[in-house]
Amino acid sequence: MHERIVRLKKERRAVILAHNYQAGEVQDAADFVGDSLELSRQAAATRDAEVIVFCGVHFMAETAAVLAPDRTVLIPDPKAGCPMADMITAEEMIRWRAEHPGVPAVCYVNTSAAVKAECDVCCTSANSVKIVDSLPGREVLFAPDKNLAAWTATQTAKTIIPWDGYCYVHHNIRAQDVREAREKHPQAEVWAHPECRLEVHALAHKTLSTGGMVREARATAAEEIIVATEANMIYRLAKENPGKRFYPAHELAFCANMRKITLAKLAGALETMTQRVVVPPDIAARARVAIERMIS
Ligand code: 13P
Ligand code: SF4
Repeated sequence: MHERIVRLKKERRAVILAHNYQAGEVQDAADFVGDSLELSRQAAATRDAEVIVFCGVHFMAETAAVLAPDRTVLIPDPKAGCPMADMITAEEMIRWRAEHPGVPAVCYVNTSAAVKAECDVCCTSANSVKIVDSLPGREVLFAPDKNLAAWTATQTAKTIIPWDGYCYVHHNIRAQDVREAREKHPQAEVWAHPECRLEVHALAHKTLSTGGMVREARATAAEEIIVATEANMIYRLAKENPGKRFYPAHELAFCANMRKITLAKLAGALETMTQRVVVPPDIAARARVAIERMIS
């Protein structure tokens, strides 16, 4: 399968981007593996490839399509959506903003391009505090993740008005899971993803995006780490740090949508040049403003 992908990639002049939560074999077939922010940057910087195959969920592939409008963006399974991104629609965002005139709106990258088009600026879990602090005024609307909003609020003097969305994978990790993992691994540090509940952050030594976890895993002196995030994150952490041990805070914290992308579907996408991710130009133009504001 790998050989077939390498051959097709050359024929199609394609580049393969994969999120840190992708299955190990998909990560191993990718040219670049990263967190949401890194993948957005990579999509924007991909100049020599004609095709971007995005191994992640749909909103991520949409972001790539918005940032690289002259390239063909493919997603190996178009049903790989993000339930949190689906918790707010563009119409809901427009109504919400009308209820809070003059208040800037931040949308997490885990939103559709249509929602991004209605916001002032995007953020990822790696930069939510910086983005919120960069905005004028005292109040900020923040959608859709109430957990990321709550954690960001602990790091800024701004008043954050949250939308009532959440990621079920992170929301289902409870303080009790972390306590149990610590009982099994008393020497371990605890790292939590910003999408976790505040009760989990209260027990964590560090709060890190998936990209932050990758960097911290190389830098830390800790030899054992419990990670409160999607359990597949451990694949990359363990592969790059063979001397350290990583444990999931919750063994079943798997994102069913990330798992829809398989090596066979990746090869199929390159073979047939489907499924193409297309964002209507008027929506793309407005979403691009919010994403580029974040990147700059
Ligand atoms: P990162 O931006 O930390 O990669 O997390 C995004 C996420 O949860 C993907 O769904
Ligand atoms: Fe969405 Fe959560 Fe899956 Fe990320 S892990 S794609 S936020 S459901």
